[in-house]
Order: sequence, then C-alpha cells, then structure tokens
Amino acid sequence: MDILFFKLTLQLLLWLFTLGQRVSAQTKETIVQFYMHDNVLVPNATTISVAGPGSSNGGFGTVVIMDDLLTEGPSPYSKLVGRGQGTYILDSLVAVDLLLTFSAVFDTSKYNGTLSFHGSDRTNLKQREIAVVGGTGVFRFARGYAIIETYSTQNLSAILFFNVTIHH
Ligand SMILES: *[C@@H]1O[C@H](CO)[C@@H](O)[C@H](O)[C@H]1NC(C)=O
Ligand SMILES: *[C@@H]1O[C@H](CO)[C@@H](O)[C@H](O)[C@H]1NC(C)=O
Ligand SMILES: *[C@@H]1O[C@H](CO)[C@@H](O)[C@H](O)[C@H]1NC(C)=O
Ligand SMILES: *[C@@H]1O[C@H](CO)[C@@H](O)[C@H](O)[C@H]1NC(C)=O
Repeated sequence: MDILFFKLTLQLLLWLFTLGQRVSAQTKETIVQFYMHDNVLVPNATTISVAGPGSSNGGFGTVVIMDDLLTEGPSPYSKLVGRGQGTYILDSLVAVDLLLTFSAVFDTSKYNGTLSFHGSDRTNLKQREIAVVGGTGVFRFARGYAIIETYSTQNLSAILFFNVTIHH
C-alpha cells in the first residue's frame, strides 16, 4: 500500500514538473520601445480635455482623452509604430500625477498586437514605472512594466520615452 502511494506521489510530482516546464518554455521576454507624442493645445492636438474644473486647483480632476502618435525615434517625423489610445486623469492634489490608462495599438508592420497600460505617471520624476496589464495578438497574456522618461516638453505638450519589458 505504502509503495503504491509512494509511486503515485512520484508520478504526480513528475507530471507537475513537466507541466511547469511546458508553461515556462512558452513564456518569453520582449522589450518594446517607443516615443509617445502628447500634443496639447496646439493645432492638430492629439488630446482633448473632456471634463474637469479648468485651471482651478492645478487642474485636479481633469479628464483627457488621447490618441497620441507612437514613433520609433524621438522626432515626430520618425517612423510611426502605432498609436497610444486612451485616457489620463489628473488625480493628485499634491503633484502632477496622471492616472494613465491606454492601449498601444501597434502598426501591423511592427507588431500584430496591442498592449494595455495602467498606472500612475508621476510626471515630475525623471523615471517612473507603470504596469502593463495585458495584451492582444502576439502579446496575449502580456504582463510587465514600462519605464517612462520625459524626453522633452513644450508648454503642456510632451514627448515621452517608453521602455517596456513584458513576459508573454
Ligand atoms: C494639421 O493637419 C493638417 C491636415 O493633415 C496639415 O495640413 C497641417 O500641416 C497640420 N498642422 C500642424 C501644425 O501640424
Ligand atoms: C501582421 O499580419 C499581417 C497580415 O497577416 C502580415 O502581413 C504582417 O507581416 C504581420 N506583421 C508582423 C510584424 O509580423
Ligand atoms: C507656448 O506658450 C507660450 C505662452 O503661452 C506661447 O507664446 C507659445 O506660442 C507656445 N508655444 C507653442 C509651441 O505652442
Ligand atoms: C530598457 O530596459 C531594459 C530592461 O530593464 C534595459 O536593459 C535597457 O538598458 C533599457 N534601455 C534603455 C534605452 O533605457
């Protein structure tokens, strides 16, 4: 009886081990990098403020919808790799923090997939991190993080560098 139980346990452990190996073999790490062009209050702006208190209280409570261009390099004329479509909300009373929630919808010549981002963009930090909470197409099951750096700013517009590390 004891021998049978031992054999069954061994069998189960072996099975779990091979299953674990198969799952980890399917997961790969990919680094995705792009520049995001957030154009505010200029001709052909890529953002629109849809709700909020105006300039009172530092803009706290403002809701902005964006459809920003994502490019390979920092120049707005560099190769287009996709669009950053979503929203950001000024949700801090003490800093310029944005609750950033958007999808990177990639050009199919770059990736046949999208990545979903969600987190606090603490814009006064040189580097900040937001979560990648999912993906579609080639990025199904994506989990990871993006390090964001402000490349340049002009009035309220900004060019941001995204260095994204995902497992999928
Ligand atoms: C705005 O878009 C129009 C139409 O695409 C274009 O002709 C114009 O040059 C753009 N203006 C700016 C300032 O980008
Ligand atoms: C995305 O899919 C299209 C259509 O199947 C294909 O032509 C294109 O090469 C794919 N892009 C990449 C980056 O694999
Ligand atoms: C930036 O803002 C200043 C002051 O409001 C304005 O004079 C200037 O034209 C703006 N620059 C751009 C590129 O929008
Ligand atoms: C991007 O992130 C990866 C992983 O953290 C890092 O190895 C790489 O140096 C970063 N690249 C840039 C340009 O910041």
